[in-house]
Amino acid sequence: MGLCFFGSILVLALFFRPLTCQQPNTDAFFVSDFMQKMGSTSSQGFNFSAPVCSWQGVFCDAKQRVTGFVASGWGLSGVIPDTTIGKLSKLQTLDLSNNKISSLPSDLWSLGSLKTLNLSFNQIYGSLPNNIGNFGLLESLDLSCNNFSGAIPEAISSLVSLQVLKLNQNGLQLSVPWGILNCQSLVSIDLSSNQLNGTLPHGFGTAFPKLKTLNLARNDIQGKASDFSELKSITYLNISGNLFHGSVMGFFQEPLEVIDLSQNHFSGHISQVQFNSSFNWSHLVYLDLSENLLSGEIFHYLYHAQNLEHLNLAHNRFSRQEFPLIGTLLGLQYLNLSRNSLTGHIPTELLQMSSLNALDLSANHLTGQIPLLSIKNLQILDVSHNNLSGQIPIPLLEKLPWMERFNFSYNNLTLCASEFSNQTLQTAFIGSSNDCPIAANPGLFKRGVPNHRGLKLALALTLSMVCLLVGLLFLAFGCRRKTTMWAVKQNSYKEEQNISGPFSFQTDSTTWVADVKQATSVPVVIFEKPLLNFTFADLLSATSHFERGTLLAEGRFGPVYRGFLPGGIHVAVKVLVHGSTMTDQEAARELEYLGRIKHPNLVPLTGYCLAGDQRIAIYDYMENGNFQNLLHDLPLGVQTTEDWSTDTWEEDENNGIQNVGSEGLLTTWRFRHKIALGTARALAFLHHGCSPPIIHRDVKASSVYLDSNLEPRLSDFGLAKIFGNGLEDEISRGSPGYVPPEFLQPETGSPKAPTPKSDVYGFGVVLFELITGKKPIEDDYPEEKEATLVSWVRGLVRKNEGSRAIDPKICGTGLDAQMEEALKIGYLCTADLPSKRPSMQQIVGLLKDIEPVANQ
Ligand SMILES: *[C@@H]1O[C@H](CO)[C@@H](O)[C@H](O)[C@H]1NC(C)=O
Ligand SMILES: *[C@@H]1O[C@H](CO)[C@@H](O)[C@H](O)[C@H]1NC(C)=O
Ligand SMILES: *[C@@H]1O[C@H](CO)[C@@H](O)[C@H](O)[C@H]1NC(C)=O
Ligand SMILES: *[C@@H]1O[C@H](CO)[C@@H](O)[C@H](O)[C@H]1NC(C)=O
Ligand SMILES: *[C@@H]1O[C@H](CO)[C@@H](O)[C@H](O)[C@H]1NC(C)=O
Ligand SMILES: *[C@@H]1O[C@H](CO)[C@@H](O)[C@H](O)[C@H]1NC(C)=O
Ligand SMILES: *[C@@H]1O[C@H](CO)[C@@H](O)[C@H](O)[C@H]1NC(C)=O
Ligand SMILES: *[C@@H]1O[C@H](CO)[C@@H](O)[C@H](O)[C@H]1NC(C)=O
Ligand SMILES: *[C@@H]1O[C@H](CO)[C@@H](O)[C@H](O)[C@H]1NC(C)=O
Ligand SMILES: *[C@@H]1O[C@H](CO)[C@@H](O)[C@H](O)[C@H]1NC(C)=O
Ligand SMILES: *[C@@H]1O[C@H](CO)[C@@H](O)[C@H](O)[C@H]1NC(C)=O
Ligand SMILES: *[C@@H]1O[C@H](CO)[C@@H](O)[C@H](O)[C@H]1NC(C)=O
Repeated sequence: MGLCFFGSILVLALFFRPLTCQQPNTDAFFVSDFMQKMGSTSSQGFNFSAPVCSWQGVFCDAKQRVTGFVASGWGLSGVIPDTTIGKLSKLQTLDLSNNKISSLPSDLWSLGSLKTLNLSFNQIYGSLPNNIGNFGLLESLDLSCNNFSGAIPEAISSLVSLQVLKLNQNGLQLSVPWGILNCQSLVSIDLSSNQLNGTLPHGFGTAFPKLKTLNLARNDIQGKASDFSELKSITYLNISGNLFHGSVMGFFQEPLEVIDLSQNHFSGHISQVQFNSSFNWSHLVYLDLSENLLSGEIFHYLYHAQNLEHLNLAHNRFSRQEFPLIGTLLGLQYLNLSRNSLTGHIPTELLQMSSLNALDLSANHLTGQIPLLSIKNLQILDVSHNNLSGQIPIPLLEKLPWMERFNFSYNNLTLCASEFSNQTLQTAFIGSSNDCPIAANPGLFKRGVPNHRGLKLALALTLSMVCLLVGLLFLAFGCRRKTTMWAVKQNSYKEEQNISGPFSFQTDSTTWVADVKQATSVPVVIFEKPLLNFTFADLLSATSHFERGTLLAEGRFGPVYRGFLPGGIHVAVKVLVHGSTMTDQEAARELEYLGRIKHPNLVPLTGYCLAGDQRIAIYDYMENGNFQNLLHDLPLGVQTTEDWSTDTWEEDENNGIQNVGSEGLLTTWRFRHKIALGTARALAFLHHGCSPPIIHRDVKASSVYLDSNLEPRLSDFGLAKIFGNGLEDEISRGSPGYVPPEFLQPETGSPKAPTPKSDVYGFGVVLFELITGKKPIEDDYPEEKEATLVSWVRGLVRKNEGSRAIDPKICGTGLDAQMEEALKIGYLCTADLPSKRPSMQQIVGLLKDIEPVANQ
């Protein structure tokens, strides 16, 4: 033991010996002495026996003299002693940033060759000596984030080569010295967050011809716009949090890109600014005038600031006015108009600001409903203290749990959601009435699944644990009831674990092959349940090896199977048979993207599997089938091309009852209207709420499903892209009867690309189907042979005889006028010229206008 201890001491002594054994008064000696005395935690990479120029962080000239020493973040702490780095007389670069140095040696100021000095992020205290004037060659001085106090020395005037000066976040006092006017090479000055006061030295504006960046924020400096009017190169100006006053007009000068004048005493009529039209607004990226005393109406020239990303005009004394014209500022990421006496409605143009990350409209007098917002990037939303009413748009409501912060308090909003915690309700929805007059989108709330991802996962796990227990119990008691099916399947899956491929499957019209070697080695991704490690083997057992009995339909993309994954997850498994030109990675990325797209009127993509060449999309199973089957009264058991619903796989009493129920519902216009509006909402969301917009390319009655709450849900969005380019042409043309005229005209040159307006046409046909109860082609259209549904109805609408087209089942219920209106919407949608068709967003509005009220 004692020997061992003695041995370690010996080793330690040997290790440190070279440190103290450098030749005195050499660069190697100064550096090693410094390292030793500053207690560096980062000695690795140091071999003190090797020449100094090979040491980490040390740079030398041709004569082996140290010219650079970079020891950023090396855990150095305490007082730097004299006769260490202060003696490296050839030193040009010294970077000791990010350490815990508390004091500098007096010989540091003798390093007359220094060009770059970075001591930022330390704890250095005391005042800056006039010796700083010795650094005549200094180009970059960074002393930011320390504890320097006292005045900035006048001797700074000697730093004539200085380009970068950073003294921010210290305790520097008194006024900015005259001496600085001598530093005419300055490109960037940051004196922010000190205790500087007084005025800027006279001539400040003309002294720095090359100055690009100036930050004086968070001091107590006084002054006016004219102090800066001659800075000809400046692109960034930040004087936030000072005592500047007067008009802001003079600030709008080229080539400024960032202007932060917030928290000062600027006053006067803001609208004056717009008359100085020589300012090129398209350069402006950032404008913050918040917390000043500006009055008047917000200027309309903002309209021209096409590249603006950040706009804050909050807390001023503007006059009562409507929302300013900012609808064209499409790149805006931050918009803050809080406390500005705004009246009227929030403009719908905000929807186009797809980059918007933070929106603060709090404490105004805004009325009306909250319009659809672009939610893609939205993280912060504050509309508290207004007079807004109605409901929060569904896409926004769905996004809230993923947002950083939101506040709807002190309005007259109706909240139709119980999924928020009491705490959220009591802070973010203060004063909102919590009753739900119209269950507009019950699908969103009825299941009571919290929207929060973590909760969802926890719930899913708990559920699957419970299910597993129940299943095991059933097994244990030898129960053979149908409800235990998944548990039985899970059992058989265990037996099949070692199955190896390739696998070949037969359907009525095609054979497809999953070229995988080990079924258990091919993962199935289930987005919401990442911890359940499903594999292709689970898909095999879920669908009884893709057996024909589980085949729901053969669609244009390929066969669709029904199955239960372990845990009782009821899914529809869609095999995209024809392969794709996408790589596996691209397809996975695309499917992951589609998995994130959530809307109460879309059939959610639950997960996917890449099995050899096949891309397999996994969807939530829709209990109530698709609308085509429902509408055209197909008897159970008869399958159309894409029928998932009329399965004969398993008789299920509840399913039967639900189907009967929905057929009954079908005789009401209210129900059909709900399907139209839901489908329109889904498409509007794909076109306007997603960026880039998603074009469905195959809108038809059989793509609209009904979930367990009989809410319409559109399926198959985004699949055409994954399906591959080879068949893009065929796919994009759509299904017979739904194809817009622009795709039918035989034209030379390349085929027409699908657009949102081709989806609108498809929607128009679905709308006609809903109202007339007739199929898009090959149905019985009175008085017209060779016709299609579209030509027949359009003919009648044109003659103002639309009422004759209405389905007798819903006709004469006193709502014929509304149905005729709906036919007119369909008429607009099916216009020959795509440009004449309305957008899906407009269609949602039109349909809402004719929404039947309850009891109709
Ligand atoms: C340290 O440097 C000396 C001289 O260059 C060399 O002989 C020795 O191997 C080095 N030691 C290590 C651990 O790299
Ligand atoms: C000084 O060092 C800090 C931290 O390493 C770095 O962030 C900063 O950019 C440096 N300053 C200059 C002027 O390069
Ligand atoms: C900074 O210096 C002041 C006095 O100059 C002292 O009161 C304060 O504690 C110091 N702060 C730190 C973090 O060292
Ligand atoms: C600036 O601040 C110092 C204390 O830091 C104070 O003594 C001086 O009066 C102030 N000057 C002005 C003009 O406010
Ligand atoms: C202005 O400086 C302050 C303090 O450093 C900072 O918080 C603010 O973000 C800066 N403004 C801009 C536009 O960079
Ligand atoms: C308008 O801006 C130009 C520079 O773009 C500036 O020279 C002029 O002084 C400004 N006019 C007013 C009235 O501020
Ligand atoms: C403003 O700047 C943009 C881009 O730098 C330029 O294209 C445009 O012509 C300028 N407009 C005016 C009025 O000078
Ligand atoms: C909007 O600006 C005000 C005033 O500057 C500020 O208090 C508020 O936090 C800002 N809102 C957001 C969301 O940044
Ligand atoms: C809110 O709007 C209603 C009318 O829509 C109006 O009667 C009421 O005075 C407004 N309240 C406030 C605080 O502006
Ligand atoms: C709140 O909105 C309802 C209608 O949504 C309206 O009847 C009521 O008057 C509003 N209350 C206030 C205070 O504006
Ligand atoms: C939420 O608040 C309501 C009424 O204040 C109360 O009845 C309920 O128990 C609360 N729920 C939770 C989970 O605290
Ligand atoms: C929302 O705003 C109100 C009023 O300003 C405030 O009391 C409440 O704490 C805020 N809630 C959140 C979640 O920020």
